[in-house]
Amino acid sequence: METADKYNELVAQVPAKGYLDMPIDPRLDLFEEIKRLKKEKNAVLLAHYYQESEIQDIADFIGDSLALAEAAAKTDADMIVFAGVHFMAETAKILNPGKKVVLPDLNAGCSLSDSCPPELFAEFKAKHPDHIVITYINCSAGMKALSDIICTSSNAKMIVDSLPADQKIIFAPDKNLGGYINKVTGRNMLLWDGACMVHEIFSLEKITRLKEQHPEAKLIAHPECEEPLLKIADFIGSTSQLLSYVEKDEADTFIVATESGILHQMQKNAPHKTLIAAPPENNCACNDCPYMKLNTLEKLYLCLKYEMPEILMEESLRLAAKKPMDKMMELSAQFGLIQGK
Ligand code: 13P
Ligand code: SF4
Repeated sequence: METADKYNELVAQVPAKGYLDMPIDPRLDLFEEIKRLKKEKNAVLLAHYYQESEIQDIADFIGDSLALAEAAAKTDADMIVFAGVHFMAETAKILNPGKKVVLPDLNAGCSLSDSCPPELFAEFKAKHPDHIVITYINCSAGMKALSDIICTSSNAKMIVDSLPADQKIIFAPDKNLGGYINKVTGRNMLLWDGACMVHEIFSLEKITRLKEQHPEAKLIAHPECEEPLLKIADFIGSTSQLLSYVEKDEADTFIVATESGILHQMQKNAPHKTLIAAPPENNCACNDCPYMKLNTLEKLYLCLKYEMPEILMEESLRLAAKKPMDKMMELSAQFGLIQGK
């Protein structure tokens, strides 16, 4: 087992003795303390749009997966506190070996990443030696190391379009995003059978009813959603594309089919618009990612204070995982999606 895994397993097994059980003085103003610790330690707080509103409000930078990877690559802070899930913090470490990267809760995993274990994928890949592998960033470092190019939902179409039309491609791990990219590019990529539990649980029936109740509303959806839902959507886009669509489109009401954390920035950017969270198949009105929501202000404070749990990685794995990340950053800069070096 690798050093990083051993360390992470240890921390996960002994929460009773770990940082999470450290007492927090109830008189503390956590916002102020987090700001003070960030300054004292020259730390940068990066947060994904799916984080709790209060975490988004205190972050130095909020973004989708692509923007966060760029921010992680460019920061001159000594420590990166990643308010997101494990694969995102791992991505920051891949791009920043010299910096300490910490994640408030080590159990903040990802169902999509879990749906593609590198050992199984390696067997699948070996059966298709003439294919190149494009992998969605929502995967482990082990999966990245088996890939030729990483993509996010913001750049997947452009990356696929940049390859010769006859290039055979395996797309992993998300079959929904892969299916959508096949449709919009006219390709026939081989898809790994993975999915995100949050984006797959939307109720088509309840959403259809909502559309009938609000005929003026536009339905917008993340491409990780299933095809029947994407088929009835007025707009499909990554987290940042959905945000900017709501801000710029002339409609006043939107039914939003993605993780509900995004509603906070959407409402901030478009205060006069009406946003309705698309309902899932369960009894909840909106759809939270249980992994993203493991991070809390208290855990954020403890993680900054004790500088743990830290993401550690074997250098050989990091280098292998960085290669396809570099390719993605290079192409994204070429397309003008990020600023580049
Ligand atoms: P983006 O941030 O690339 O839109 O991905 C959404 C997601 O599921 C992150 O976990
Ligand atoms: Fe993973 Fe889905 Fe949660 Fe994103 S929303 S972190 S893809 S489980």
